[in-house]
Amino acid sequence: MTKQFSVPRGTNDILPENIFAWRSLEDSVRKLVHLYGYQEIRTPIFEETELFARSMGQTSDVVQKQMLQLAAQPKPEETGVVLSGLALRPEATAAVVRAYIENSLDKKEPLSKLFYIGPMFRGERPQKGRLRQFHQVGVEALGPGSASPYLDAEVIALAVHLLEALGVEGFQLKINNLGSLDDKKNLSKWLREKLGGRLSDLCSDCQDRFERNVFRILDCKNPTCREVIAKTNLNYQECFSKESVEYFSKTKEALSALGISYQESMQLVRGLDYYTNTVFEITAPSLGSQDALGAGGRYNHLVEELGGAKVDAIGFALGIERILLALGETKKVLAQPMDAFLVVLAPTLLSKAFQLVNELRQSGVSVDMSYHPGSLKSQMRMANKQGARFVILLGEDEDRKGVVAVKNMETGEQKEVNIKNNLEELIALLNGEK
Ligand code: HAM
Repeated sequence: MTKQFSVPRGTNDILPENIFAWRSLEDSVRKLVHLYGYQEIRTPIFEETELFARSMGQTSDVVQKQMLQLAAQPKPEETGVVLSGLALRPEATAAVVRAYIENSLDKKEPLSKLFYIGPMFRGERPQKGRLRQFHQVGVEALGPGSASPYLDAEVIALAVHLLEALGVEGFQLKINNLGSLDDKKNLSKWLREKLGGRLSDLCSDCQDRFERNVFRILDCKNPTCREVIAKTNLNYQECFSKESVEYFSKTKEALSALGISYQESMQLVRGLDYYTNTVFEITAPSLGSQDALGAGGRYNHLVEELGGAKVDAIGFALGIERILLALGETKKVLAQPMDAFLVVLAPTLLSKAFQLVNELRQSGVSVDMSYHPGSLKSQMRMANKQGARFVILLGEDEDRKGVVAVKNMETGEQKEVNIKNNLEELIALLNGEK
């Protein structure tokens, strides 16, 4: 038996009937990010593996377990995560930072406000809301001008505004302060002191995290770890500098001034190493276990760490599939209905009809026909499926008279249009009500 191929696990076909939902989401995103002054950037879908490892952190789950590498050839000295070679991008922040540095965008503007929409790839175990190829819409604001709590508030407000504009309801915004790079070091020490005595109560993953990435213990989903955390007084802002505490207070003030409600959560630490200061996550409880619609935060050292200038940055990404899941069953309609469908009523007229269709297309009319024309009824069915606004009927009678009959599918009105000398009248009619 011939092998039947299926879509790779954790990926989806987006069929024409679903494209309308995707396109209208993307259109709304484009309109809205423009209101906030963000310009589009497109980076390749693969980059050097090392770029992701260096930015997201070698101990992050994404780098440890989810990198989809292309032809990775381990170098003899490499153990663990293979750093050589290329990997499909698991996210776009690192790629945008790479492009920002490589194209000297810092020299062009004090603040580069960029957005992207596109596929990302993570080799995760697929489940509802968790895919191997998924799509994100994200923004990144980088440059010396990025250091302002108003920008933190703007970026968070934009994420909220986007979800509202797309019609997502009942989502929740959580924010937290991870402090500056130095604060984070103090925090690691503080957490190790607090949790050291309870190490044997933590899951094996968290015991491992204790040394490698102690922050991640705070958002472990394991019930016993949660219990340990719940019993720990997490008032860790006390080990932060006055400056970063003040910065976060101003961010919260700016958010409140915009009327954005949020919940502060000391357990929100994010899984990627590059974050500093403000971090946030937006969840939709209706989504179940994969409930994060999007997340983001500051990464004030990443540009410098990747060889660029010492500039601050902040951004977020929202998962498009999760937004669509939260919106529920979307309308299955054709994204772009056709202007017209040409119905051929005699096989001898096929060649004439073919030429007519091509001339109309050259003139900017979207029109289709069947090259195996069946009955009038079956051709009308095809016209309906394509959402044609007009049906052009070409039969022997019409051909003799040098006309076509044009039926307006909305009003049912039908009239003859002369095509003997030129197609001007026909084109004007078909283009008329666009
Ligand atoms: P992230 O939290 O890894 O952050 O991903 C952001 C969003 O992408 C998630 O909240 C989720 O909606 C979606 N997402 C992630 N993984 C999957 C998956 N396997 N299947 C379906 N959806 C998924 C980042 O990617 C950061 N780059 C965000 C950022 C931008 N931070 C600063 N700038």
